[in-house]
Amino acid sequence: MNIGVLCSGGDCPGLNAVIEGVVGAATRRGWKVVGFYDGFEGLLSDENWQHYQWLDENICHGIRSKGGTILGTVNKGNFTIKTGVNQKGEIDPVVLEKVKATIKRLDLEALVVVGGDGSQSTALLLAEIGLPVVGVPKTIDNDLGATDVTFGFNSALEVVSESMDRLQTTANAHQRMFVIEAMGRHAGWIALQGGMAGNADVILLPEIPFDLNKVVDAIKLRKAAGQREIMVVVSEGAKLGNDLVMIDATTKGEVRLGGIANLVAEKLEVATGIETRVAVLGHVQRGGSPIAFDRVLGTRFGSFAVEMIENKQFNCLASLHGTEMVAMPIEEAVKTLKLVDPNCQLVRTARDLGVCFGD
Ligand code: F6P
Repeated sequence: MNIGVLCSGGDCPGLNAVIEGVVGAATRRGWKVVGFYDGFEGLLSDENWQHYQWLDENICHGIRSKGGTILGTVNKGNFTIKTGVNQKGEIDPVVLEKVKATIKRLDLEALVVVGGDGSQSTALLLAEIGLPVVGVPKTIDNDLGATDVTFGFNSALEVVSESMDRLQTTANAHQRMFVIEAMGRHAGWIALQGGMAGNADVILLPEIPFDLNKVVDAIKLRKAAGQREIMVVVSEGAKLGNDLVMIDATTKGEVRLGGIANLVAEKLEVATGIETRVAVLGHVQRGGSPIAFDRVLGTRFGSFAVEMIENKQFNCLASLHGTEMVAMPIEEAVKTLKLVDPNCQLVRTARDLGVCFGD
């Protein structure tokens, strides 16, 4: 049997581990795997444009330790049907006809789609034209309700925590404040856990509206207690007042967030009188090799996706519940964003450590 695999949406560490898991599990079953390049775009291959590659264990051996994806990925293009939470669209019928031709030409019996909620919604539209799909959840933000954790998230936490360790020493030397911007569009998991690991004094999240006056008071208390450096972590999706801070509000599709750290830093510097610097961690959080946890998790997701195909659990998403992988209907799985509950035990622990959330 021939199956396909593709990565769609923003990359994150662990995508190659998923691919290796898929290829390993398929090979053990005597199946062949075709990897489509650049997300769903590879499905538009034709006689003149072969944008796919047959994958085997020689090609994929050991790629679990590499960042990025050997197949490439896109978060826009001919198959973008979802531009934000609960906004759906359609795929051009001409595009769908081309996909049907590819399915036939390659004798494709199922497709593994490694992607976030938007990509999984696209996958369901492909199922409707006769291509059975299984999904593997991908988001560095870890904000998908269906799965306890997504691969790549813990690698991002390592980056935040290691960066904060480095920034803290220079901040301490100069008695400065650092405002560090972490990824997280809707959910603040990266800022919360990265900040906790990296000794943050203040953590500002999309889920907890904050009052900068309260942040200023907390910082002044720390200074009065003799602390030399102040470390503030802010999610890119945290709102200043009622507003998201964007790099470019005019872009089509998902708006590009970014810049909140600069605004927060300016205001805190004026209000506290502490010399302040900004560090926007940006895509450093998404690049590089996955940590061991994500290498193993990624291969588990890939291998389980093949088990799902074997068991004909189509239109389902591989999801980690506790220590077990389960198959959840995609339609259900993409419905709920997993947000930080301001009263959850993680937040309570952070508060016990003296972290100020500005509320
Ligand atoms: O959704 C994942 C994410 O990394 C967000 O945290 C971030 O806002 C966005 O992707 C960045 O996307 P791009 O790679 O298009 O700049």
